[in-house]
Amino acid sequence: MHEGLKKELEIYEKRTPRSRLAHQKAVPRIPLGVASNYRAYEPYPLFVREGRGGHIWDLDGNEYVDFNLCFGALMAGHCHPAVVRAVKERLHIGTMFGMPHEMEWALAEEICTRFPVEMVRFGSSGTEATMHAIRLARAATGRDRIVKMEGAYHGLHDSALVSVKPKSDQFGDPAAPTPVPAGAGVTTATLQNTLVAPFNDLAAVERLFAAHTGQIAAVIVEPILMNIGICMPVPGYHQGLRELTTRHGALLIFDEVKTGAKLARGGACEYFAVKPDIVCLAKSIGGGFPLAAFAAHREVMDLIAQHKVFHGGTYNTNPVSMAAGLAMFREVLIPAAYEHINQMNSRLVEGYRKTIEKMGLNAYAIGAGANGAFMLYPREIRNYRDWITIDVDLWRHYWFGMVNRGVLPQPYWWDEQWTISVAHTEEDIDRHLTAFEELAPQLARAQQERMATAAP
Ligand SMILES: Cc1ncc(COP(=O)(O)O)c(C=O)c1O
Repeated sequence: MHEGLKKELEIYEKRTPRSRLAHQKAVPRIPLGVASNYRAYEPYPLFVREGRGGHIWDLDGNEYVDFNLCFGALMAGHCHPAVVRAVKERLHIGTMFGMPHEMEWALAEEICTRFPVEMVRFGSSGTEATMHAIRLARAATGRDRIVKMEGAYHGLHDSALVSVKPKSDQFGDPAAPTPVPAGAGVTTATLQNTLVAPFNDLAAVERLFAAHTGQIAAVIVEPILMNIGICMPVPGYHQGLRELTTRHGALLIFDEVKTGAKLARGGACEYFAVKPDIVCLAKSIGGGFPLAAFAAHREVMDLIAQHKVFHGGTYNTNPVSMAAGLAMFREVLIPAAYEHINQMNSRLVEGYRKTIEKMGLNAYAIGAGANGAFMLYPREIRNYRDWITIDVDLWRHYWFGMVNRGVLPQPYWWDEQWTISVAHTEEDIDRHLTAFEELAPQLARAQQERMATAAP
């Protein structure tokens, strides 16, 4: 471990003793001391006390400008007044019925006016949305296999838990990746049915269709690969996937769990001008409450109406989440909000670019909609194999260095990205940039030293 990182870790531990204690207390009762493996990191994760707007406070009372925003699920920021108002009202008139109500049609209508879809069903998590989308595609085509991209994350059900972060001694040929389970418990049958292609490589998808004629139900894709930082599609990629899937009688599923609210009013469908067969939504559409949706054209969704595909769920369309969702679509995800986040994000990305250049850092900054990332790579990444080359210690130096300066620049992991919320102000962006400017000379020095010692 290099000196710069050691120093930042020492400062972190001095500033956050209550988080350490809370974590120690949780470990005997909760595996890793956290409720989702994504929340665990060394030496211990920051425990949070409260959040308001674009800021959070940890157990020791330290304040942070928050660009993590619950792994990108809070484009609204914390406790957005419109969401709080809508939810408060519901709390006194019933939170769960398991019966239909009028907000269901209203929210479905909102989604159908923004996305190129005709019918919607709701759930509580992104995992559910992609799981049902894949099942629908299988039912619609009578085929079992799906294609996913290496490094893409679509949630926690078996078909999606393949080649999420495969190790280099297992992942095989870069042009024809070997499907690798993302953990124990994923069945061999699943591996046979989940085919893997590199992102941004249409020829690889074409080869899979040729090798498995008439067997592929769907291609599922994150329109921007946002589980390896930010990995943009090359021009024409999605149009190519659209053409290939149509030609081979398969469905195209856009997993817009991350992009749906945060890229544009009509998500990646609008941003890339593509009409997929099924769209999956979650995270930021719920304004801080568990809300997800999968939506498609009538022909596909009729499989549910005809009782051919089963979909249910006790928590589906619970009025609290639906009230939050309606407040989001009607009062938060409005044109002025997209203008604001685009302006804030340009300011942040440009600021990063200036400092990166000034310091001669071997890195780049990239933004798209409400998302952006500091990428520790010499050139823009195009797929998972580019992404795995990161210097992890240098990344940790960056992340803890920013946290110690009062900025949570994004979730801990280098496969994530920052989110700008409607609550962030120019002052918040400038605090973020000041922290980075202060840290960047150390990072540049450490990077040069590490590259010199790594050189043959
Ligand atoms: C692209 C994508 N799809 C699906 C999911 C799963 O969503 P959830 O965590 O709500 O189950 C995630 C979560 O990060 C995601 O990023």
